Amino acid sequence: MAKLFVALDFDNEEKALEICQKSKNYIDGYKIGLELFCSCGKDIVNKVAEFGEVFLDLKFHDIPNTVIKTIESIAKLPVSIINLHALCGSYTMGIVKDSIKGINPNCKVIGVTMLTSVDNNILKSLNFNSCNVGEQVDILAELVYNSGLDGIVCSPQEVIKVKKKFGNDFLTIVPGIRQNTNEKDDQKRVATPKEAVKNGADILICGRPIYNAKDIKQVILDIKNEMGDIYAR
Ligand code: C5P
Repeated sequence: MAKLFVALDFDNEEKALEICQKSKNYIDGYKIGLELFCSCGKDIVNKVAEFGEVFLDLKFHDIPNTVIKTIESIAKLPVSIINLHALCGSYTMGIVKDSIKGINPNCKVIGVTMLTSVDNNILKSLNFNSCNVGEQVDILAELVYNSGLDGIVCSPQEVIKVKKKFGNDFLTIVPGIRQNTNEKDDQKRVATPKEAVKNGADILICGRPIYNAKDIKQVILDIKNEMGDIYAR
């Protein structure tokens, strides 16, 4: 069964913990990103972990020595998922995976492929060889898989292909979840919860549609219901 995590994209502990409190009985986990981590420090991870599973989404992208030492430091926290950019390369990804095993053996290490806010036009402006975002995800997913990581972050639209190629055990974590796909905000490659689950996504990440809602509980239940629909058939 796919899980639903809420992205705690805030700059203060009070707001983040308020969302945790309101959602703790309905949500599967929480994503702590750069904004909250940089504003509140490591302690926020301990506090959020009291409400559920934590995906620490800091998307590291630096030289091997820096990424490896930093990840070794944060892996001691109560986190079940951490990530780094696939663009770090297979050397860094391989060493990170090995060293995490000794520090936090149950922690999954995920590679970020192309951000869900990136589309073909952005790739074109960066002068990538292929200006097709799906092709770039394919290349990076293969790199992540061959480096021995547990899965990737990708858009809901790429999940089918990734699962077909790398199998069900290779986790797909998908942001860009919108009940109404016309309300994209700054996302480009979005899908409904139902489509994402149907495509085979393992963890759906949803931020603004949940934490900006007037009735957070109801939105979570609606999304969960949509996700569960697939299994009821
Ligand atoms: O508010 P929204 O649902 O768009 O939030 C999506 C969350 O997922 C944000 O915290 C964003 O940083 C994160 N994310 C993403 N695309 C990726 C990786 C992470 O949107 N490729």
